Parts: sequence; C-alpha cells; structure tokens
Amino acid sequence: MDTKTKISRPLRIKIISIGNAESGKSCIIKRYCERRFVHKYLATIGIDYGVTKVNVKDKEVKVNIFDMAGHPIFYEVRNEFYRDTQGAVLVYDVTDRASFETLELWLMEMKNEMGNMADMDNVTFCVCANKVDRRPRVVDETEGRVWADTKGFHYFETSAQTGEGITEMFQVLFDGVVSAVENGGRKLPYQTQLGYTKEQIEAIQKLKNSKTDHDKLGLLPGASKDDINRAYRKLAVLLHPDKSVAPGSEEAFKVLVAARTTLLKRAT
Ligand code: GTP
Ligand code: MG
Repeated sequence: MDTKTKISRPLRIKIISIGNAESGKSCIIKRYCERRFVHKYLATIGIDYGVTKVNVKDKEVKVNIFDMAGHPIFYEVRNEFYRDTQGAVLVYDVTDRASFETLELWLMEMKNEMGNMADMDNVTFCVCANKVDRRPRVVDETEGRVWADTKGFHYFETSAQTGEGITEMFQVLFDGVVSAVENGGRKLPYQTQLGYTKEQIEAIQKLKNSKTDHDKLGLLPGASKDDINRAYRKLAVLLHPDKSVAPGSEEAFKVLVAARTTLLKRAT
C-alpha cells in the first residue's frame, strides 16, 4: 500500500451507548444522526448498529455506533459487543433516580465484558443527564456532575427532544476518541475544568451522606474538643465557599458548621 492511500483512508472508531431501558439512548443517537425526535417508545431489541461519517480535527472519521438495549433480558446479546469500544455514551434519565443509580452496574457489566482493564481505562466516556426538558427532575445537575467528575468522565445535560447538549456531547466524544488514537490508543487525562479536587468532592459527599455528626467529621464517638476542632479546621480549609468552587461546597460547609457546634456542646 502506498502512503497516499494510507492517508486518505478514513479512521474507523467504535462507539457504544449504555444505560437503563427508556433512558433515551436511541433518541440521542437519532437526534444526532437524523435530527429528529420520536415520542413513542420503541425498545431496542438486542442491538442497533449504524455508521456515520464525521470530521474531527480535519480528519474524516467513520463512526460505528452500537446502540445497546437497556433491558436486562438482552444481556446475552449485548455482551458480545463491548470489546474494542473506544467511546461510550452513558445515559440516564434525570426524572428517574434508578436510572442514575444503575450507572455503576452498567460500568461493571462493561468492565467484565471488555476483559482487559487497560482497554476500559482508555475508553472516552460521556455521561448524558438526559430528558432535562421533563419535570419533575429528581437527579440534580450537581449530583450528576460530581459523579461524572469523580470518574474522570465528561458530563452533559441533554435533551433528545429539544436537542440540547447533543451535538456538543458527540463532538467531545469523537474528539476524545480521536485524540486517544493519535496518542497510540492511550486516553489523554481529562481534568475537570472547574478547578476542584477529588478530595473536596469526597468531603462534600461524606458531609451530605453521613448519618451521624461524628461520621460527618470523620471522628469516632467520644472524640475530644481538640479532635473536633482539628477535624473541623481541616474540612473548613477544604470547603470554605470563598475558596472552594466544588459544587455543593456551600451546603456542605453549613452542615460542617452545624455538626461542629452540636459536637462541641456534647463533648466534655
Ligand atoms: P432501550 O432501547 O429500551 O434501552 O431504551 P432507550 O434508552 O433507547 O430509550 P429511547 O431512546 O427509546 O427513549 C425512551 C422514551 O423516552 C421514548 O418514549 C422517548 O420519546 C423518550 N425520550 C428520550 N429522550 C427524551 C428526552 O430528552 N426528553 C423527553 N421528554 N423524552 C425523551
Ligand atoms: Mg434504544
């Protein structure tokens, strides 16, 4: 093969869509490829396959899209198609909390089927918080964004109905995959644009989710006033709303102050 044909041949990439049934995977793909929206729910049976051509960084790219069925009965069909995935659209419905909570299980299924850990680590992930046009919304932006950020995934608020976020999401996805290919198959590290750390996010989540005031500050029952103040200062430095831009800092800081006050009153 001469160099000319080598250069002109389009790059081929493999993308999959995963997430619970009815979260909107097929509609997101349809919105992007056909610029239309279908109201009626037509469950994907096993898998839908399609090809589209796009230009990324002045390169012609042939995108193979494997749109997976979300229903558990199609596991046996789906599992054949995870291998060699380079980009994944991870979809949940913001009006259905279960679809958000199941994302971890989707990642587990994918990890098991990909076989090689390195392959999984080099997949570019875009999380779609979908159906943002619908009410009532039960998973807010902060929660979704924090989850995606802690995984190192891109996050988008999308609506297949209005088209919000869809083109942008696919551009970032294709760009991420092509950049990884150019980098010898290794994904480039994705840093949150927002200027906060994983440590801050974890502290916020701990303050939000812990049942007792001791747990919130990472203390054991019976902690002394000194222990309480030390733990408080460490967290206050991390989360003070004047300094921290991590989503949820303000609320977490209030929880922290309240927990400290209660604990100091009780401590002898
Ligand atoms: P499976 O193929 O069963 O895994 O489902 P799926 O994730 O592909 O869902 P699909 O795209 O078929 O959409 C499910 C239902 O949600 C359909 O009735 C769509 O019309 C609706 N839907 C999808 N996206 C949106 C959206 O952004 N907004 C609203 N309001 N409805 C949506
Ligand atoms: Mg579908």
